[in-house]
Amino acid sequence: MVAVFDTARVITFASLLLPIGDSFSNATIARTRKNLLDVAKASWELGTAAQALTEVYTPDLSVFSASAFPPPDRLNSSLTPVDVLAIVNNTIKDKPANSKPLFANQGSAADPASLGAAVLLANWTRADKKSNSLSKAASDQLHYLLDDTPRSRSGAISHRANEPQLWSDFMYMVPPFIAYYGALQRDRKILQVAYDQSKLYRDGLRDAPGLWRHIDLGSYQDKTHWATGNAWAAAGMLRVLATFNHSSFGGELREHQKNLTSWIDEIVVASWSHQSTNGSLRNVIDDPKTFTDTSSTALMAAVTYRLATITHDFKSIPAANRALELIKKSVNVDGWLEGTVDPLTFHSPSPKGKYSPEGQAFVLLLHAGWKAFADLVRSGTLRV
Ligand SMILES: *[C@@H]1O[C@H](CO)[C@@H](O)[C@H](O)[C@H]1NC(C)=O
Ligand SMILES: *[C@@H]1O[C@H](CO)[C@@H](O)[C@H](O)[C@H]1NC(C)=O
Ligand SMILES: *[C@@H]1O[C@H](CO)[C@@H](O)[C@H](O)[C@H]1NC(C)=O
Ligand SMILES: *[C@@H]1O[C@H](CO)[C@@H](O)[C@H](O)[C@H]1NC(C)=O
Ligand SMILES: *[C@@H]1O[C@H](CO)[C@@H](O)[C@H](O)[C@H]1NC(C)=O
Ligand SMILES: *[C@@H]1O[C@H](CO)[C@@H](O)[C@H](O)[C@H]1NC(C)=O
Ligand SMILES: *[C@@H]1O[C@H](CO)[C@@H](O)[C@H](O)[C@H]1NC(C)=O
Repeated sequence: MVAVFDTARVITFASLLLPIGDSFSNATIARTRKNLLDVAKASWELGTAAQALTEVYTPDLSVFSASAFPPPDRLNSSLTPVDVLAIVNNTIKDKPANSKPLFANQGSAADPASLGAAVLLANWTRADKKSNSLSKAASDQLHYLLDDTPRSRSGAISHRANEPQLWSDFMYMVPPFIAYYGALQRDRKILQVAYDQSKLYRDGLRDAPGLWRHIDLGSYQDKTHWATGNAWAAAGMLRVLATFNHSSFGGELREHQKNLTSWIDEIVVASWSHQSTNGSLRNVIDDPKTFTDTSSTALMAAVTYRLATITHDFKSIPAANRALELIKKSVNVDGWLEGTVDPLTFHSPSPKGKYSPEGQAFVLLLHAGWKAFADLVRSGTLRV
């Protein structure tokens, strides 16, 4: 079979890149990284930072790489996620020996698991093969989620430690870790759990035509379509999707991947349908009275670029390009993302002079997602 290149479509692909030319400069990314490492303290901030730093600095080790499974069993100096290993080391050092979660006493059952994939990677690639402390930490974290955490009536693992409650944030903290665990162990049952939890959360939080509520069940709710929560959900399922595809069950789990793809795309399309003319999302996506938020805009754009590298469906790329333009203008000369939501209140802007740790990570994820997309378009391998 001869690959046929359609000139008109190639030109269309190229024009997808024209409006932006390039993503962030290396200097901006370096400053964004440094600021991120300075301010990321909470468990989910460190977990998200570890993922973002992996995608930017050692992309071959991320689940978006075809060579993700298994990772090398030893790392050389050109392929070492230095920042990520430092975060893992500090976390393990601070973890009380009797804590099954990677961070003790968080209130959230889910947030500590956000560092789980990084711990698994550190374990797999560790120099000291005699030590099983990282392996044990990861396995305790998994069993805490599977065996000790409250569940909803439908079987969804709670985001909270003390009562069943669903948060869209869960989707970035837990299913990607469980999927990565399953892929490394070549355990189809564990992979299935990552898929089932994604489905249960979608069933539990989704409103027509595809936006997710932020918090439901339990003693309080936030039923708004919080933009960051929707971005967390889409970005988490995207990591699950890539993990499935690159695992040893990639061929077997095609239908799972097809469903995950449509669940991600549904959020992406519904979100951008409310995009402001300057490229931003509102803090509550479908509430034009709420302020515009750069954090969620950055993460949703990152997802949009990555998703297009998998689906080769470019319908949402113009929206991502507008978002990238806005985010480029919103990262100041010192490498801080301006215009973020305060990630602790959910519904007010970050106070003046304060920046969002997760927002810093989202800029890195956007850079990595854009680069993967740009590499694909430039590779000239897109076929009709
Ligand atoms: C930016 O960093 C990338 C990855 O490290 C490198 O390939 C590229 O050459 C750098 N670009 C410039 C302009 O220094
Ligand atoms: C699966 O991975 C391969 C290699 O990275 C990639 O070419 C393909 O697009 C991926 N497919 C899906 C459905 O993710
Ligand atoms: C480092 O390790 C990676 C993965 O094993 C390998 O592809 C790469 O060639 C190595 N680089 C050097 C400089 O040895
Ligand atoms: C993490 O800890 C291991 C084992 O103690 C050590 O070999 C490694 O150098 C540390 N890495 C970093 C980045 O601190
Ligand atoms: C930790 O790494 C070893 C390989 O050195 C592997 O056999 C083990 O399964 C890993 N543990 C987990 C939980 O992935
Ligand atoms: C994928 O979704 C379809 C439609 O909802 C459903 O019938 C099918 O069972 C799902 N596939 C898997 C593997 O869950
Ligand atoms: C984007 O436009 C909205 C109005 O649509 C405005 O409130 C917001 O400040 C603008 N954001 C930036 C970063 O310019």
